[in-house]
Amino acid sequence: MKTAKWFFCASLLTVASHLGAQTATIEAKVDALLEKMTVEEKLGQLTQFTAAPTDLKEQIAQGRVGSVFNFGGSVNTNELQRIAVEKSRLGIPLLFGHDVIHGYRTIFPNPLAIAATWDPGSAERSARIAAIEARAAGIRWTFAPMIDIARDPRWGRIAEGAGEDPFLGSAFARAYVRGFQGSDLSAGDSLMACAKHYVAYGASEAGRDYNTTDLSERTLREIYLPPFKAAVEANVGSMMTGFNALNGIPATANPWLVEGILRKEWGFDGFIVSDYQAVEQLIPHGVAATKEEAARKALSSGIDMNMVDGAYALLADDVRAGRFPVAVVDRAVRRVLRAKFQLGLFDVPYVEADGEDRLFLLPEHRAAAREVAEKSVVLLRNEGGLLPLSKEIATIALIGPFIEDGGEMLGSWHAAGRPEDVTTTIARAIRDEVSPETTVLLAQGTGLLEGPDSEIERAVATARLADVVVAFLGEGGKMSGEARSRVSLAMQGRQEELLKAVVATGKPVVLVVKSGRPLAIEWAAENVPAIVYGWFLGTEAGPALANVLFGDVNPSGKLPVTIPRSVGQIPIYYNHLRTGRPATENQYTSKYIDSPNEPLWPFGYGLSYTQFAYSDLAVSSPTIEPDGSITVSALLANRGDVQGEEVVQLYLADPVASVSRPVRELKGFKRVALAAGESRRVEFTITPDMLRFWNEGSWVVEPGQFLVWVGPDSQKGLEGTFELRGPAR
Ligand code: NOJ
Repeated sequence: MKTAKWFFCASLLTVASHLGAQTATIEAKVDALLEKMTVEEKLGQLTQFTAAPTDLKEQIAQGRVGSVFNFGGSVNTNELQRIAVEKSRLGIPLLFGHDVIHGYRTIFPNPLAIAATWDPGSAERSARIAAIEARAAGIRWTFAPMIDIARDPRWGRIAEGAGEDPFLGSAFARAYVRGFQGSDLSAGDSLMACAKHYVAYGASEAGRDYNTTDLSERTLREIYLPPFKAAVEANVGSMMTGFNALNGIPATANPWLVEGILRKEWGFDGFIVSDYQAVEQLIPHGVAATKEEAARKALSSGIDMNMVDGAYALLADDVRAGRFPVAVVDRAVRRVLRAKFQLGLFDVPYVEADGEDRLFLLPEHRAAAREVAEKSVVLLRNEGGLLPLSKEIATIALIGPFIEDGGEMLGSWHAAGRPEDVTTTIARAIRDEVSPETTVLLAQGTGLLEGPDSEIERAVATARLADVVVAFLGEGGKMSGEARSRVSLAMQGRQEELLKAVVATGKPVVLVVKSGRPLAIEWAAENVPAIVYGWFLGTEAGPALANVLFGDVNPSGKLPVTIPRSVGQIPIYYNHLRTGRPATENQYTSKYIDSPNEPLWPFGYGLSYTQFAYSDLAVSSPTIEPDGSITVSALLANRGDVQGEEVVQLYLADPVASVSRPVRELKGFKRVALAAGESRRVEFTITPDMLRFWNEGSWVVEPGQFLVWVGPDSQKGLEGTFELRGPAR
């Protein structure tokens, strides 16, 4: 045993000294290169373009471009790379970036859907496959993961993140970074990740994209920053700042956020890129009068690379004349060059020409996309056990604008994913699933945005012929994502009208919601017996949905975000603070006169085809010492007659503190698979650091009584209590 331990420690030391030597070599190479660079070449390394400038090739040859993005494909990237490596004076390779958000060619569910798996392993797997495919297309850097916490579904980019919770968001942030980067950035299948958008971009006022944000430091520290810290701890290679201003200071020129928190407090040593034209947008933000001033502000605030607007190139004269410190430029250039060396770009600048053919859409990639999609589906309502459907059903009607449209399954930011890759549309997948004797009827009922009465009438007539109707309705693939803010969260166009008409036939109806974001579907929640949240599930959406609807797969997804009843309830999120007048019968308490306070479905909610029961909460000790821990556990039983997976959730609350604390906070979760009739005790460890909060400039843990819940979602659960002891005096 001792020998094994010694050998383990010795191996660690060898690895550490090897890494140390590697770092020293890279630093020496960076120094040597920096010595030779002109001011223009330095600023060039800090300049990033899309393929748009007509003189792009010439600029690359002159060493004025460090990175090109959203221009994939082995032929394209190799062609530009050859110019950088063979024609520019110093031969510094280009860094090709891309928005590889949920897959490159094989498209996985949109990230909010992946978060509904509550399985960071699924995120990691999706990112790994995305990295393999993107690398084959010459891409070395992805602008992902987007780890903005979002509490407002009007904001279309909620679809790109992991939802409203910092604990869940941090788990997914780590998983994506691991998945994209792997263990070695220079490996042939690694993509450098870029955690974005630093920070609080998801808190845009009124849910309007690019709008300003205003937050207390406590909310920033406790809610919006944790996923970024988690990404740093997972060694993310780069970060992108947000378009937003935070408390009046744009993230693109905010030294407190970048130099203060990110670099000094957390020790982040990767490089930082601005968002698209965000440097020159310091002018409309009202903090710079000219593009040069904007460049000076951004660069000296620690934004190393300038996306698209070319502002940094304007600083050349100032740097030469000593009006802008060359040390600030060098600091940024070092970070970019370091990343290029770490990625092995100087050794392997090109990509093999046949990689795309060999690696795109491999059967195992499709299988992974299908499995992740199946886990993303959330069952929200299932009155009378309408689901799963029988495969022997005589006649089934499929209704809605998505049933034969593969492209609509991909959602926003689908990189190189193509509609024609979605070979099995929903209609086809369901045809494949049911018995050959089953009649499958199709009716679109309406287009996404509009449609004539006659289409609705035809859908109603079709529904009348069926034993069961499955309606696939919601939002189009391009309705969520960047610049897709909405003031309504209704299904688009005439889809709700269509749903009402179909439900009025009296036939059993299953609603599958297609959307990247929460939709406020109050009428459906009360009138449609079975509701499944089906997101944008990607290339394998059809088979994944069919497998869930017909019971080959038992749904196990849980909501990573609250689904409101109406837009008027927004912002609505489970971990809200308390009020002095919590809602009661009394009129003068915190409530609406025209709506319940409660959402349609809370954070963490999701049903299964089996029934899980929680019992026998056990708290290992009534007290935790300041440096100790306790365990809390509950017995989970599968009381139904099919196997299923349950995401068991741990919540904590501090009912009396020096500041008002959230009613509950997620602090742990475990996915547990149980056979029919099986039971298992599920245990969590609680340590004092899980009880800390931000107060007056630092993290504090206050002794006292705490509440704990173990349960199926953020509103239910078995409740217990324990006391945190104060430090010895
Ligand atoms: C703007 C978006 O905000 C950002 O997320 C994206 O990575 C860049 N454009 C590049 O496409």
